[in-house]
Order: sequence, then C-alpha cells, then structure tokens
Amino acid sequence: MEMNIQNEEQLPILVDRIMNMISQSDTFATVICLEGDLGAGKTTLSKAWAQYLGISETVTSPTFVILKEYETAHDQYKKLIHIDAYRLSSKEELEYLGWEQLLSDRQNIILLEWPSMVKGISMPHVYTLSIEINKDHSRTFNFK
Ligand SMILES: Nc1ncnc2c1ncn2[C@@H]1O[C@H](COP(=O)(O)OP(=O)(O)O)[C@@H](O)[C@H]1O
Ligand SMILES: [Mg+2]
Repeated sequence: MEMNIQNEEQLPILVDRIMNMISQSDTFATVICLEGDLGAGKTTLSKAWAQYLGISETVTSPTFVILKEYETAHDQYKKLIHIDAYRLSSKEELEYLGWEQLLSDRQNIILLEWPSMVKGISMPHVYTLSIEINKDHSRTFNFK
C-alpha cells in the first residue's frame, strides 16, 4: 500500500488504514519496522500511532533511552513499544534489552525506528513501513 501525506494532520488516516490491514499473530508481537532517513518522520508517525491507540501519556523520541513502553486503551494491542535503534550497533544490544520477551506477547505492537541497526534480529511477525520525503516536503509512505 502506498500513501501520500501532505502534512502531519493527515497521519491518523494512514495509521487507521494500516491498523485495518495488519493481523494480530496468535503467538507473537506485531513489529512494524519504520524505515527512512533522519527527519523522514518516523517519530512523528509513532506519536500519531500512540494517539490512535488511546495513549494519553506524552510520547517523546526514544533516541536516548532506546526503548519506551506505553499502556494503550486499545482492545487488541494492550502495549505500544517504541524503539529507536539508531544508537545500537548490533542485534545483541537489543536482545539484551529484552527483545525476546517483548516478542512473546501477542498484545504488543512494536514500532522500530532504524531496524537496519539490529539486522538479523528475530522478527516472527513483521511489517515494514518506509517513508520518503518528496521535493514539496510531502511524504510518501510505503507499507508492506
Ligand atoms: N508527515 C509529515 N509531514 C510533514 N512534516 C513532517 C511529517 N512528519 C514529520 N515531519 C516533520 O519532520 C521533522 C522530523 O520528524 P521526525 O519524526 O523527528 O523524523 P525521524 O524520527 O524520522 O528522524 C519534524 O520536525 C516534523 O515536524
Ligand atoms: Mg526519530
């Protein structure tokens, strides 16, 4: 699925579409890999996602803490895990932070920025969303 987004106000439409396209695994967490350069809009999208899931807590970029967990008000996905792997240098570092445990709960939805930094890590139920900035500053989102 490809979608063109003119501004941040349109992000809820994208999140709604994706949430209606994904399926919940019987066993594992749902992982959404967010791909795109610095400034593409990965964190901004994650904030829109949190809002969609009914998270009232303020969502800030996990750049320095790597991983943040939020309780949602959604009936299928009870917890949102927001990860920024930019500062990690191997999959082992994310495993050390409890990746396998996070994966083992089907009610978790994990948004992972910079998945290329943890290449090879186990992702049994995964989707990919890539973001490109266009010349007119609109964004093209590609979901697979
Ligand atoms: N969909 C969007 N449309 C327009 N501007 C956006 C969009 N998403 C993000 N931005 C702007 O781009 C900047 C960087 O976004 P951010 O989400 O921090 O990027 P990333 O996490 O990919 O590095 C923000 O200041 C934000 O205002
Ligand atoms: Mg970011």
